Amino acid sequence: MTARLVVLISGNGSNLQAILDACASGELPASVVCVISNKADAYGLVRAKNAGVEAVHFAKLSTETRQEYDQRLADYVTTKQPDYIILAGWMRILSSSFLSSFPNKVINLHPALPDTFPGTHAIERAFEAYQRGEIDHTGVMVHLVPDEGVDNGPVLATEIVSIDKEDTLETLEARVHQTEHVLLVNTLKKILEEKVTRSY
Ligand code: GAR
Repeated sequence: MTARLVVLISGNGSNLQAILDACASGELPASVVCVISNKADAYGLVRAKNAGVEAVHFAKLSTETRQEYDQRLADYVTTKQPDYIILAGWMRILSSSFLSSFPNKVINLHPALPDTFPGTHAIERAFEAYQRGEIDHTGVMVHLVPDEGVDNGPVLATEIVSIDKEDTLETLEARVHQTEHVLLVNTLKKILEEKVTRSY
């Protein structure tokens, strides 16, 4: 079975690229059927086009509420018949107007461990906490998105990322992103394999 993935992004799309590469190599038994960005200039849209995948800039209209936008987005995503919706650097909180259409299907990636540094600039905030002597490591996580909680929900996988004395924010960011690329693909792979097993 080839799973249908819709990937939501807001920026660079390096994690989207990891998914696209894993689909192309056969590592993931899946195909990305659509990439959606709330930002017109997200480089991830270019990555999608380069891979021959539908790339959509889905902008919020000034005349619509957040709930109306989320409902319109849910209606569009539904037409793609996704098995899973991956939030790979999607920097908008989804309301129940979206989430209620896809129970147990929305998966978020966050560059920090559970219950630490939710929201934006998580790596930067972890680095600052390290410099203040408050933490000696950070990490990444993949989790389900059941509700509007920010970067919070049933955890599917975590990986610790060490922070070293020699680190700069840039070197830490690079190590966190490398870890994310591997953890995201491995977690999706596990989920898809379990789904295949369960369907027999
Ligand atoms: C990733 O680090 C992802 O974990 C983070 O945005 C980055 C997107 O990078 N997401 C969040 O912070 C969600 N709160 P990418 O566009 O290169 O994949």
